Amino acid sequence: MPLLTIKELNSTTKLWVWKISETWDELFQSVVLKDVSLARLETMKSESHQKGFLSVRKLLISAGYTDFDLYYDEFGKPHLNDGKHITISHSFEFSIIVISDEVIGADLELLKEKTLKIAPRFMEIFHLENLSHYEQMKKATVIWGIKESVFKIKNEPGISFPLHIFEQQFNLEDKKTIAELRFNNKTEYFDVVFDFIEDYVFVCAFEKNK
Ligand SMILES: CC(C)(COP(=O)(O)OP(=O)(O)OC[C@H]1O[C@@H](n2cnc3c(N)ncnc32)[C@H](O)[C@@H]1OP(=O)(O)O)[C@@H](O)C(=O)NCCC(=O)NCCS
Repeated sequence: MPLLTIKELNSTTKLWVWKISETWDELFQSVVLKDVSLARLETMKSESHQKGFLSVRKLLISAGYTDFDLYYDEFGKPHLNDGKHITISHSFEFSIIVISDEVIGADLELLKEKTLKIAPRFMEIFHLENLSHYEQMKKATVIWGIKESVFKIKNEPGISFPLHIFEQQFNLEDKKTIAELRFNNKTEYFDVVFDFIEDYVFVCAFEKNK
């Protein structure tokens, strides 16, 4: 059951989730790649990364696109030829794409102890007060995902997770919050939604209209 879900995040934004259960060969045989993508695939060392890359092409097909409709800018940020916004993430068994009329950034992260361990390096740890150990791990992973998602939107050199990206107070049940980027003497705001897919955290940030 490779295409796990399609979900509307709002009226012009959809999430596609792929659960990677195929072999490398099955994935490779089922997509057509342009030369630049084939060349990039060859540079990826791990099979897991390659399968993530190939499964994203399967998601593109599910969304009515092909590899030929996708290109990357010099920072590695993906774009669609038709002007819609796309964001991509892959992590072990899952890959996701989000396509929207809005400017978006999304991240998928496996829940792991290490994220909680390094939390003081990337977030304000008072956000983890009064939570069980498992909830702390979930919240730290959501906050990491928020920072990755905002970073994917802004994509500017010099942005630091602990120094420039902040999340407003939220509870895990809320499944939404607001993030702030305080950078270069201005503050920008982002609506954030998040959810849990098996042992993974999905986060999507939307640039708020200025
Ligand atoms: C670019 C970055 C956001 C990718 O995130 P990741 O968790 O490693 O990987 P993900 O699977 O979630 O995302 C990978 C996808 O992001 C997209 N991407 C890559 N660079 C991007 C960029 N500059 N902007 C937006 N999207 C980008 C690509 O689509 C890529 O997948 P693909 O090349 O297979 O199409 C991440 O590597 C990064 O640089 N983060 C900032 C690191 C940082 O500041 N850390 C501070 C710690 S305190």
